[in-house]
Amino acid sequence: MNTWRLDGATTTLLLLARGEGLPEIVHWGARLPSLAAAEVAAMRDRAVARNALDEDMPFATVLPTLGAGTFGAPALAAMRDRLDWTAEFRLDRVEELSHGLVLHASDPVGRLVLEITLGLAADGDTLTQQVAITSGAELAAGVQHLAAGVFALPPRVRTLLTLGGSWGHEFIEQRTDLPMGTLAIENRRGRTSHDRQPSLIGGGGELAEDAGEAWGVHLGWSGNHRTTAERQPDGSLVVQAAALLHPGEVEVGQGAYFTTPEAVCAYSANGLAGLSRALHRHVRTQVLRWPGGRMSRRPVTLNTWEGTYFAHDEQRLMAQATAAAELGIERFVLDDGWMLGRRDATAGLGDWTADPEKYPHGLLPLARHVEASGMQFGLWVEPEMANPDSDFLRANPNATLHVEGRKRRTSRHQVVLDLTRASVGEAIVAALERLLGELPIRYLKWDMNRELVAAGDEFGRPAYDGQVRALYAMLSHLRGKFPELEIESCASGGGRADYGVLRHTHRVWASDCTDALDRLAIQRGALRFLPPEIIGAHVSDSPNHQTGRRHTLGFRAAVALFFHMGVELDPLALLQPEQDELAAWIALHKRLRHLLHAGEHVALPAEDCRSLLGVVAADRREAAYLVAQEASPLHAIPSPLRLPGLDPAMRYRVVAPPPQQMPERHSATHRALFGAGIVLPGAALAAGFVPPPMPPESALVLHAVREGG
Ligand code: GLA
Repeated sequence: MNTWRLDGATTTLLLLARGEGLPEIVHWGARLPSLAAAEVAAMRDRAVARNALDEDMPFATVLPTLGAGTFGAPALAAMRDRLDWTAEFRLDRVEELSHGLVLHASDPVGRLVLEITLGLAADGDTLTQQVAITSGAELAAGVQHLAAGVFALPPRVRTLLTLGGSWGHEFIEQRTDLPMGTLAIENRRGRTSHDRQPSLIGGGGELAEDAGEAWGVHLGWSGNHRTTAERQPDGSLVVQAAALLHPGEVEVGQGAYFTTPEAVCAYSANGLAGLSRALHRHVRTQVLRWPGGRMSRRPVTLNTWEGTYFAHDEQRLMAQATAAAELGIERFVLDDGWMLGRRDATAGLGDWTADPEKYPHGLLPLARHVEASGMQFGLWVEPEMANPDSDFLRANPNATLHVEGRKRRTSRHQVVLDLTRASVGEAIVAALERLLGELPIRYLKWDMNRELVAAGDEFGRPAYDGQVRALYAMLSHLRGKFPELEIESCASGGGRADYGVLRHTHRVWASDCTDALDRLAIQRGALRFLPPEIIGAHVSDSPNHQTGRRHTLGFRAAVALFFHMGVELDPLALLQPEQDELAAWIALHKRLRHLLHAGEHVALPAEDCRSLLGVVAADRREAAYLVAQEASPLHAIPSPLRLPGLDPAMRYRVVAPPPQQMPERHSATHRALFGAGIVLPGAALAAGFVPPPMPPESALVLHAVREGG
């Protein structure tokens, strides 16, 4: 009998091996005191169930397998020539890392070898798992399924929360109970997807924002995936996170390892907001890789898409850049429409040179103008794709992912290039290197605007997995060659926002929907797993281009303010008062971004259609809150507004900073709030004060600073 444990800041993982097999997960959750092996064993000692196998089988092992005496979903499905389809691993050796374990295991019958790596940083509460497999026999083994992470959640986890939706409405939360059976979230779209995020949260009771236990699982993978939660015979839940493999996609030859992506599971004793704090910390410290090793101040961005679309006019874009700089914008991103023959979505994708009619001297004059205006120059590309109506595809008609004899379906008039084919990958990299070499590009908005259908490689074999790996290799190569470069992961909005792609990129475009009301829900969902500083949020036109809704500039700006803020409109089309107000919002963002982009996330359950999220500095000296009245309140008088996360004993001055204006109906407290501020101890602010009445689809930004510095 053997036990192992890993401890995080407030968490413990406890493993127990009663026999020779893979260890069972005894506990993953709140911190436990130190325990002797016999005590851990006593925690799991149980009578054999009636009408069951005569020996008690641990079902929540770190990798449940088929034919080993448990009846839950196996985490591995592999075989050789219709044989070796059962698996029962023997634990050979456990390697202890500074903050983790590597379990080395082998199956002498099935002749497979495993390495399971578990990690839990001492100052974090996120458990990571990754599995590598190889064949111990000459004949290669076909792997149809291999979970990256297997996490055991206790029976008191009743509510499951998943994130999904559709294009323009991604990261929308759905809650469900799971009395018996399995909940499976499967994605076969070839990118992370808009409708099924590789993320799952479980918790007791109602899964509140600010209280109760919660576990959150995520797979760092930008392709097909399968996340399952299955009730076990003791009521506990086994959650598995896996890349979804296609038949014949993965074979492991002797000694050659296939390694899964990394899965992560965070634990919080402080509700959903606490879970986000643990996951944000994980992304900040373990996933993102910034140029120079440190995040620079996130530059306020102007993205040209909604203000210009395909109608690029060099002179007008230069004038836009000048106007953008006057608004306080720091990065100007030239979106789609600049390439050869790119008059609309039907042509030009794949030809990465500037259209000579729109840009007679190439992009350099515009890029130089942007730089001369004091901004960084960024460029939109969609390197994985081509239009059939492009010089590239005319010259390389077979460079696409396809299966011979099957229809090559287009989406958005484009096809997917086969990145697993060396010649195709090299041509794409050469085109990007040329752009990056010739132009002062500090930022690429890397888009991916369609799904994969019958994605066969040059031999007709499934290439979904290989395509993602080739993409990561391409991004990594470019980052190596251009270390100052930042990259945004965009896939028709939030279709590729996961910890896999975020190892190579620095921002996600959360959604093609820029409507402030819809964005509240989209950003709330995105924030569950992603920190605000990497979520792109832009102030766009009113009426909104996607929904037709009209919103005040104040509402649109407040909703974008807490994230990586940007602007998605033609600044030349703004009237002077709008320009002044937008410039003031940008100035406010710049004043607060040291806090917004590094602090800790807090949130409260919505009350009377009023939601609240906020950011609190680690030392509790400062906080900012976004209060949004999402629909008309039921009650005549607003309920007290509680400000969470502050130090109860400290006194804070709370202001509603400019350009916000005091509403017509107000009290003396509100006059102070919109003026010099109200001063109250943190404990009183946590109990609440009555805010001004707020109309539907409006927001209030509050800034709290400790009195006396
Ligand atoms: C996608 C992106 C948009 C924009 C367009 C350009 O839809 O999500 O932001 O870049 O492509 O075609």
